Amino acid sequence: MAQEYKLILKHADEPGYTRDIECYVRHGGYEALKKALALKPKDLPDGKKLSPQEQIREDVKTSGLRGRGGAGFSCGLKWSFVDRKSGKPIYLICNADESEPGTFKDRQIMYKDPHQLIEGMAIACFANDVHLAYIYIRGEMVDGAKILNVALKEARAKNLIGKNILGTGYDLEIHVHRGAGAYICGEETGLIESLEGKRPYPRIKPPYFPAILGLWMCPTIVNNVETLCNIKHIVAMGAAEFAKLGTPNNTGTRIVSLSGHVKKPGYYEIEVGKATIGELINDPKFGGGLRDGRKLKAVIPGGSSAKVFKAGEKFKIKDKEVDMLDLPYDFDSLIAAGSMSGSSAIIVMDDSTDIVEALANVSEFYAHESCGQCTPCREGSLWMSKALHRLTHGEGRASDADYLVKIADNIPGGRTICAFGEACSWPVQSFVGKFKDEFVAKGKADEERRAKENVQPKTATPPERHELATAKH
Ligand SMILES: Cc1cc2nc3c(=O)[nH]c(=O)nc-3n(C[C@H](O)[C@H](O)[C@H](O)COP(=O)(O)O)c2cc1C
Ligand code: SF4
Repeated sequence: MAQEYKLILKHADEPGYTRDIECYVRHGGYEALKKALALKPKDLPDGKKLSPQEQIREDVKTSGLRGRGGAGFSCGLKWSFVDRKSGKPIYLICNADESEPGTFKDRQIMYKDPHQLIEGMAIACFANDVHLAYIYIRGEMVDGAKILNVALKEARAKNLIGKNILGTGYDLEIHVHRGAGAYICGEETGLIESLEGKRPYPRIKPPYFPAILGLWMCPTIVNNVETLCNIKHIVAMGAAEFAKLGTPNNTGTRIVSLSGHVKKPGYYEIEVGKATIGELINDPKFGGGLRDGRKLKAVIPGGSSAKVFKAGEKFKIKDKEVDMLDLPYDFDSLIAAGSMSGSSAIIVMDDSTDIVEALANVSEFYAHESCGQCTPCREGSLWMSKALHRLTHGEGRASDADYLVKIADNIPGGRTICAFGEACSWPVQSFVGKFKDEFVAKGKADEERRAKENVQPKTATPPERHELATAKH
């Protein structure tokens, strides 16, 4: 039976738990940082020595921790790419932009337990010889920025950050930087540009891999809030113990944001892969099932850019046929099923959902948020949104379904600078691919109505970008 497992959120929702440093310390806070700073060089059988920093980096690799920001890339491997020979400073940035629609897990940590993030960051910085780090927080989280600044002040006052931390000779400063409301600032190189004070135009990779040419063209680590919190737990419990949590290759816990048509939307922390999508939706400990009298229609499993699953869909996983609801909620199973766990945000849609409207909503967001550097993304995201706008405003055509897929198929696949190209195409490819009849029926009905009334389509040229931006406000 699937259970919640609270590692990151162990204390955050406990009655009486507050976000001040005294409370955090009373609950064992900053002990992992002290442990990390007190590590001694380790002798290896071949006569070599492993520095404390190398030991932590090795532990993060052994723990199997994968990034919680979206791509699920190995954290230890990412750290191993950092250019440590350039002679330039190494920076660490905590990606607290959390803008993927449906996702609201990082904010729980920052608002309720900010010191956990600071401790995780401090250990990550120590392990990577970083002396200056940033928390890039989504602009709309005004209170979050204030809370983090108060927490940093408290940590500074106790010499847990700052100069000569706890007399160890290690210096670290952390600053909070607020974004200005652009989704693309969550993309790591767009974020870096923004932090440098420029428009957040993602950088082309190669050559601008952050681990080599990141902030101010120096080696830089960008990690998600939840990823960095895990570093504290890896040090506290040991890599081997951490790796026992979750399932092979999908270790640790994940905080799942569950929204949409369930009785109990909210955030739930689970061991990775130890609950299925169906359990997360239906179990009384999690979503508690659909609203009364409703049937499941679709599920977006990993934030709005993840490919949608249709109720009843079956997948071949390791030679076994698995129903969508029985997919373990982990990185690998969802990829094997053709989607992803992304930012671990599950959006549930019941049979009251107009699937064309739902996609129009998602696509409008992406059309608005494209940074505009790459023609396929800038134009394609807008064309898709325009076609969906006419389909949802009585001006559709039966051919719009094919038209949408044709555009979506021509955006990703190396034609764009960043993965936003995929992010805006995957919803269109999967929604239209799996619910094509609904798109065709809508377009056909519009054509028939117009033929009957003997009128031409009114919105042959649907709204311009600024109209899209304000259409829902
Ligand atoms: C368009 C776009 C938006 C993104 N938004 C976020 C975000 O809001 N938060 C985040 O942590 N990662 C986001 N990412 C992923 C980051 O680029 C990066 O991979 C991540 O912060 C790395 O951290 P991790 O390895 O700890 O997961 C986004 C990626 C893309 C392409
Ligand atoms: S893919 Fe889109 S968001 Fe990314 S750089 Fe190109 S235009 Fe900007």
